[in-house]
Amino acid sequence: MTRLAVVPGDGIGPEVIAQALETVTALRIGIEFDVLDHINAGTFLRTGVALSEEDFTRIAGCDAVLLGAVGDPRVITPAYARGVLLSLRSRLDLYANVRPARLLHDDLSPLRDRANRGIDCVIVRENTEGLYGGSLHRMSGAEVAIDIEVSTARGVRRIVEHAFSLARRGMCMVDKSNAVPSGGALWQRIWRETAADHPNVATYHLFADVAAMRLVADPTEFDVIVTNNSFDDILSDLAAQIAGGLGTAASANVNPDTGFCLCEPVHGSAPDITGTGTANPVGAILSAALLLEHLGYGSEAKAVRSAVDRAVAAGHRTPDLGGSLTTQQAGSAVRAEL
Ligand code: NAD
Ligand code: IPM
Ligand code: MN
Repeated sequence: MTRLAVVPGDGIGPEVIAQALETVTALRIGIEFDVLDHINAGTFLRTGVALSEEDFTRIAGCDAVLLGAVGDPRVITPAYARGVLLSLRSRLDLYANVRPARLLHDDLSPLRDRANRGIDCVIVRENTEGLYGGSLHRMSGAEVAIDIEVSTARGVRRIVEHAFSLARRGMCMVDKSNAVPSGGALWQRIWRETAADHPNVATYHLFADVAAMRLVADPTEFDVIVTNNSFDDILSDLAAQIAGGLGTAASANVNPDTGFCLCEPVHGSAPDITGTGTANPVGAILSAALLLEHLGYGSEAKAVRSAVDRAVAAGHRTPDLGGSLTTQQAGSAVRAEL
């Protein structure tokens, strides 16, 4: 029996994860849920512990993880998100964060030009290094904060290679090698070496600022984008909105070598709408679909995706998509299409 660790987390996390779990349950494929709903900001505020060793072992012992969101306005230190989400990504070595962005429905695109609306790309994020890799804070007369951006040859090579494995039409590498000398040079060198091994894929490079502009000007030019931890964080929210809305975007944090994965919506805990019952469950439901695909339930994953497409096309939408359904009603509308 497949065992799924479930970390609903904070804010709208538990609200949208409930819909994702109901959807998986409706498929009747016998996945067992191990729900760790005590991992949240309240526990961190009370105990100072973001993720206990016991919980880490319990999660690592499951076949995969579904996570809602971590973050709470009462917690100002990054130690909490680092302790839960970033620590799971790095300790489980989930080095590829795969964030697909496919237009959910034409009328959800914010873009003016109809011909350019059909975004269908995957943004591949290096998930264990970069600016998230290590920080050093030092006081020396003046107050200085130094965050070190770490790129290793092994880390860059494995993420670029994984991105190539997902490419259908083309591969774009994004960096700021015009401004950031050493990391930029390393990404450039490994990019050129790896690209040379894939002569059948159209490859190109963009600086991060221009990539943001191109995503808005004509996102249809992109197939796979590979970039570092922080540029992807920004570009994937941008791509999510172009694809229909942040509330609909899903992601998979994977280790392609072990096959272990943690899936989660791209959005956060949305404190501004927590408790209103209006959060969009689509990002969480599509994250469950990514997870099913990773666990070998390809046809079930496809069925969930088509059900989401049909429900949204039929106008079953939460307020962020211009509708008036509650989280529960939007989830039920998807299940009615299954
Ligand atoms: P956010 O993604 O939570 O929200 C941004 C905006 O999008 C808000 O207006 C919110 O209402 C809206 N939104 C997000 N998800 C939605 C949904 N499913 N349905 C409808 N509207 C939705 O980003 P934020 O406000 O910058 O962050 C809030 C907290 O979440 C912070 O603590 C942040 O660190 C955390 N966060 C966590 C994750 C994660 O766990 N993966 C991701 C991003 C942010
Ligand atoms: C994401 C989030 C996280 C990140 C935060 C909550 C640490 O924004 O998953 O995109 O920056 O990776
Ligand atoms: Mn983010």
